Amino acid sequence: MKLWGGRFTKPTNQLVDEYTASISFDQKMWRQDIVGSLAHVAMLGKCGILPMDEVKQIIAGLKKVKEKIERGQVTFQLAHEDVHMNIEKMLIEEIGPVGGKLHTGRSRNDQVALDMHLYLREQMMEIIQLSMYLQRALTDKASQHLDTVMPGYTHLQRAQPVLFGYHLMAYVSMLQRDIERLQEAWRRVNVLPLGAGALAGTTFPIDREFVADMLQFDGIYINSMDAVSDRDFIVEFLSSSALLMAHLSRLCEELVIWSSQEFAFIELDDAFCTGSSIMPQKKNPDVAELVRGKTGRVYGNLFSLLTVLKGLPLAYNKDMQEDKEGMFDTVKTLHGALSLLTPMIETMTVNKQRMRQTVTEDFSNATDLADYLVTKGLPFRQAHEVVGKAVLACIEQKKYLLDLTLEEFQAFSPLIEGDVYQALDVETVVNARNVMGGTARQQVEKQIAAYREAMGKTETWIAEHSQKVMIESLIDVGSPL
Ligand code: ARG
Repeated sequence: MKLWGGRFTKPTNQLVDEYTASISFDQKMWRQDIVGSLAHVAMLGKCGILPMDEVKQIIAGLKKVKEKIERGQVTFQLAHEDVHMNIEKMLIEEIGPVGGKLHTGRSRNDQVALDMHLYLREQMMEIIQLSMYLQRALTDKASQHLDTVMPGYTHLQRAQPVLFGYHLMAYVSMLQRDIERLQEAWRRVNVLPLGAGALAGTTFPIDREFVADMLQFDGIYINSMDAVSDRDFIVEFLSSSALLMAHLSRLCEELVIWSSQEFAFIELDDAFCTGSSIMPQKKNPDVAELVRGKTGRVYGNLFSLLTVLKGLPLAYNKDMQEDKEGMFDTVKTLHGALSLLTPMIETMTVNKQRMRQTVTEDFSNATDLADYLVTKGLPFRQAHEVVGKAVLACIEQKKYLLDLTLEEFQAFSPLIEGDVYQALDVETVVNARNVMGGTARQQVEKQIAAYREAMGKTETWIAEHSQKVMIESLIDVGSPL
């Protein structure tokens, strides 16, 4: 017998059961569902909607169900459709018909919304923490490479030399925005939908503030129709995740390129690479490639949910059950990518000599020759032209700018003097960019300090919230009543 079977004269078609059930995936939220029910029933008791002795029976029953699930003593059943009705059934089996009082003043519509808010606020916090760990690994690596010069690229053509530490810190900046976006979105996840009922509120004199307090929510949905229809909080998570994955994917692309024999800038640790079944010499950067590849599913999950929501009339529609698998998948994908990238960065070795050698065999100091001429009074546009001619001549003669004699230099511009060699030296070139945000060592040190401070703030934020929102630490809600 279905929990909603009263109005029906026939059993449901088996295919319908299979098609409409969500238990195969939403059982992941069983803890959230039980915690939500504990808070709900405690509130029903406190407001005098249910007598205290019944509340106590229900709380004890829910805890028994929790233990049984933990011990693997239950099987979730397709016939009971979803995690909410499976657990309610288990409760009724455990304590008898009084278990049927749990659902007073509640609907699965506000219940499922609550479960997802509880689930996501914990998972997002973990993703924020993992992103911060990656930031830390990148920053630590950067601080070991404040004298490692490498080519900076535009169009994947050598552009200007930069410090390797500087290049890495660019990713730390991106991750900082990702973290802030997730924290911003988190504020809207941490809002209580329970008490909305099916869509219009409830006839019982419930106390939503009390539930919000017990479950550590910072706010309550003001409009119940919105509360049960809203999936913006998941979209925001998915969209912040999509951008985060884009950043990880760019980093991974660089790891792939840098570890190629053509570049040979870095070597990834053996523990994070794989081999080939046919070519014995191969060491492939599979993890980096897979992170890059899995970016596709994270984007897909965002588009999928946006499309599900488009044009849905208010309030709840069964379409919304499609919100879960993509959310779970994105959580899992990000978790995997971040957890692997951190040790990969920590353990990679950097070929300083090779990086440095490349910048002595290119024209990445050409801008500096133009800037040099500017300091001697030439307008930049003319200086650009002069240096362009010098580069062309060098290419024809198969040499680089620093190979030119002073006489040869002066043939391009009489403004050039003996100090040009110093000006074009790679150390000078890098350290000359000593403006805020530049690649000079001093500036990179400042960037490192700024982001270490930001990481400290993230850590404080996590410490202030995580203990309260972890589902296990909420399991005793309502017990003191
Ligand atoms: N399994 C459902 C979902 O994930 C729970 C809500 C069901 N509500 C309903 N009115 N059928 O969306």
